[in-house]
Amino acid sequence: MPKIAPNKVSPTFNPDVEIELACRPDSVSILNGQATRVWRYFASLIKGPEGTLTAPPGSYLGSLMRFTKGQKIRIHLRNELPEPTIAHWHGLHVPMLMDGHPTYAIDPGETFVYEFEMLNRASMNFYHPHTHEATATQVYRGLAGLIVVNDEEERALELPSGEYEIPIVIQDRTFDGQNQLVYGGGGMHGMHGQMFGFHGDRVLVNGRPDFQIDVSSRVYRLRILNASNARIYKLAWDDGTPITVIGVDGGLLEKPENKPYVMLAPAERLDAWADFSGRAVGSRLVMRSRPFSGALPKMAERMMGGGGGMGMGGMGGGMMMAGSSLPVGSDYPIFTVRVTKSMSDSPGLPERLSKIVRFQSSDIANPDNPRPISISEGPMSMLLNGRPYGHDDVQPSERIPVGAVQLMEIFHARGGGMGMMGGGMRGMGMMGGGMGRMGGMGAMMSMAHPIHLHGEYFQIISRAVDEDHMDDYATMRDGFIDGGWKDTVLVTSGERVRIVKPFHDFKGRFMFHCHNLEHADMGMMREFSVE
Ligand code: C2O
Ligand code: CU
Ligand code: CU
Repeated sequence: MPKIAPNKVSPTFNPDVEIELACRPDSVSILNGQATRVWRYFASLIKGPEGTLTAPPGSYLGSLMRFTKGQKIRIHLRNELPEPTIAHWHGLHVPMLMDGHPTYAIDPGETFVYEFEMLNRASMNFYHPHTHEATATQVYRGLAGLIVVNDEEERALELPSGEYEIPIVIQDRTFDGQNQLVYGGGGMHGMHGQMFGFHGDRVLVNGRPDFQIDVSSRVYRLRILNASNARIYKLAWDDGTPITVIGVDGGLLEKPENKPYVMLAPAERLDAWADFSGRAVGSRLVMRSRPFSGALPKMAERMMGGGGGMGMGGMGGGMMMAGSSLPVGSDYPIFTVRVTKSMSDSPGLPERLSKIVRFQSSDIANPDNPRPISISEGPMSMLLNGRPYGHDDVQPSERIPVGAVQLMEIFHARGGGMGMMGGGMRGMGMMGGGMGRMGGMGAMMSMAHPIHLHGEYFQIISRAVDEDHMDDYATMRDGFIDGGWKDTVLVTSGERVRIVKPFHDFKGRFMFHCHNLEHADMGMMREFSVE
């Protein structure tokens, strides 16, 4: 990565909000006993409205930043870590220089100044490092925080706010006997972590284990982010109450939607209307992740299902390890709601939430010729558009005229990455069954990838899945919410997803990548050059 001098304060920029954001090591008490060493964002308000920053209690997570559309924002990122870092504002539409591109990483002791205007509509976004090949480890150690944007359209709805609006950040972690975070061990650097991403042994919410919310019997707004490195959740209330969805990544839907469950992949957000009115004081409700299949290749699901730590005999000397004692797609609790107070009045659910103008084909620059985002899957070669991440490696299909609205198709390239497979995987031949029909190793490795595009939000136009994956798909399909503005879309095995995305306002390099952070760090990341 070429290194440039950190961006400095611009004397002509007049901020409404100014924040100092330091990142440094700390220790936090998470489990009983010894404190856990983490890396954290520490935010302090230099200038701006009261309520701009809220620190989540007892958590390693960074302060929640609350902004209003139209505000001018300046953030001083100070690196007090032992290695380079750079912060990215996931979901925000900002110029390249303000987007946390890895080329802007700052060394220990340096400060990078971000200055931008909030162009986003009301939405919940988040900040996290985007350091070259170190995003996964830096996020894992604790570097992440929420960004809530408000605007007039949303304010007029008078949705539950203050203590009735609850941020919920879901992450999975593994701890050792001394309560320290485990990342390198447990097969992470073996095959599991490399191919499937990190999967921890326990779920934390807002950085806390066994998370519980005490509520009154009324309506709440739950603002949920999956900030896990790789884990995908299928969220559902344990008593069968549908989830009332009011928003996703890019803010409110047009109308509320009731879902039996919601699939939430890394980086995806869920804005849920949770009505506890009429529930008895003392009653409980649990948000669980419910069973599903197809997030990981079949063989990986079998390994995880077979009990934690089970090695695969005969697979390249046991390097293929199950990654977690909490298998992806199994049934486990996320957090508990406990009704502790009765309340009689509660706001009603608005019938109409926002206005979303769907793109028409006349808005789209390439309605008949979608730009490909192909996913190649293979051991040690998770790629997009057939190539690993490279700076200054923009291909013709990755050049986009500024101001254009683009149709894009995200799909699995069959057998991709085969050529790069190392000898260590020769043992895979033993996996045999079904390979021929599914098109070889690439298909056998096929898994779900949360694909994220920087810049403006996009709309999901269509999804199609091939016949081989229908059964798995049936365990997930009712949990997709495709009607709103998105910046991350889960593309499951055998699936083809079409999106329409605008590229207004800013020229430059904007990344798109898998938000399975291990995949991104392995190179499953590319750039669009907007020019
Ligand atoms: Cu959440 Cu490119 O990132
Ligand atoms: Cu992003
Ligand atoms: Cu991926």
